[in-house]
Amino acid sequence: MNLILLGAPGAGKGTQAELLVKKLSIPAISTGNMLREAMAKGTELGKKAKQYMDEGALVPDELILGIVADRVAQPDCRDGFILDGVPRTLAQAEALEAKGVKIDHVVSIEVDDAEIEGRMTGRRVCSKCGASYHVVANPPKTEGICDSCGSALITRKDDAPETVRRRLKVYHASTEVLKDFYAKLGRLRTVNGSQSIEGANADILEAIGAQV
Ligand code: AP5
Repeated sequence: MNLILLGAPGAGKGTQAELLVKKLSIPAISTGNMLREAMAKGTELGKKAKQYMDEGALVPDELILGIVADRVAQPDCRDGFILDGVPRTLAQAEALEAKGVKIDHVVSIEVDDAEIEGRMTGRRVCSKCGASYHVVANPPKTEGICDSCGSALITRKDDAPETVRRRLKVYHASTEVLKDFYAKLGRLRTVNGSQSIEGANADILEAIGAQV
């Protein structure tokens, strides 16, 4: 099953992707995590992406499409994959279609902007594997330490309130249009992301017809 998780910054795409990986046994591909890893390693891609990400702007489509095309061609994606944070523009969605990347379901996780701004102040992410936590809604077992890999949790630079507001604007201007794009293709499923993490996960599984 090939799945796209759509939604505003902070809607819960990364959180839900982690749960779906365990339930569906397919990998999650987060362009945000891949770009942050490239930045941490100081690669050419990371250097090119840094300024856009720090400002809450989108990284140019051509950089994104290259890393996604390579990643979905890996053997672990043979039985399916979850795209988290990509596509993010009409051009990216059209390019995936043109490359013949088959998408079965596109799940839009819906959360109001006001709730998102509150969520982001409590988010902590793993400095190594990118796993996402929240100090109240989804705390790690040991404060400041990632449950999955034991690395330190940090606050993302682009979670500063002003940058979050900019990212929300970018979402409404460039990404939300993808809901219409995939609705016309009959692949859009919409899920309420303002409920508990477990409730949203159950609704996603039902929306994609997964038997788990
Ligand atoms: P990216 O890393 O993809 O960030 P994003 O889309 O802005 O999404 P987030 O990671 O902020 O949020 P999320 O929806 O995953 O929420 P999470 O599960 O963490 O992108 C970062 C940057 O990279 C972009 O700004 C851009 O520059 C660049 N980029 C990446 N992909 C790109 C692309 N395709 N094209 C161009 N540029 C690209 O949850 C948020 C918080 O809420 C957490 O603390 C979580 O614990 C909590 N939470 C989750 N669900 C719930 C719930 N139900 N109730 C209460 N709290 C909850």
